[in-house]
Amino acid sequence: MQIRKLNINEAPPIDLLLLADPSLPLVKEYLNTGDCYVAENNKEIIGVYVLLSKSPETIELINIAVSESAQGKGIGKQLIMDAIQRSKVKGYQTIEVGTGNSSIGQLALYQKCGFRITSIDRDFFTRHYKEDIFENGIWCRDMIRLSQQLN
Ligand code: COA
Repeated sequence: MQIRKLNINEAPPIDLLLLADPSLPLVKEYLNTGDCYVAENNKEIIGVYVLLSKSPETIELINIAVSESAQGKGIGKQLIMDAIQRSKVKGYQTIEVGTGNSSIGQLALYQKCGFRITSIDRDFFTRHYKEDIFENGIWCRDMIRLSQQLN
């Protein structure tokens, strides 16, 4: 598997990006300003992440997804470690990520990759998403923000 930056004239893997974020307008917005990286296996794109610079010191992992058939094999973890490494090389001091209060697996994964919870943006999802989101039998309302120092 190879992880590489999406080429300038290459279509981003929208279906994969929508697995992580159901809002197409939001996905399109951060694809314009962020950097998109893809995981490729035998020319097939099986994973994606997007990094978005928030300030000269801080970068956000704004989307990460692995195709359903390839999940649970360590690819998500490899993508996160790649995002952390690239952010370090770019000179950022902090990397941030946010996920829903109902995203139990993602919360486990981010903490296994060194992130710690910094804050909770209550009602973020009810404010920004038209449809109610349910996951693991839990109403997704609050954004859990996590971060890690890179230096
Ligand atoms: N519950 C508990 N732990 C979980 C988990 C779950 N549902 N899902 C993953 N993990 C843990 C694994 O146990 C593993 O830990 P280990 O290395 O100690 O065994 C670790 O996270 C890495 O798992 P990995 O196989 O690398 O994850 P993945 O390739 O399936 O990718 C996602 C994880 C979240 C990217 C993938 O499931 C996905 O694309 N989901 C849909 C999109 C999404 O929700 N994106 C994130 C939005 S915040």
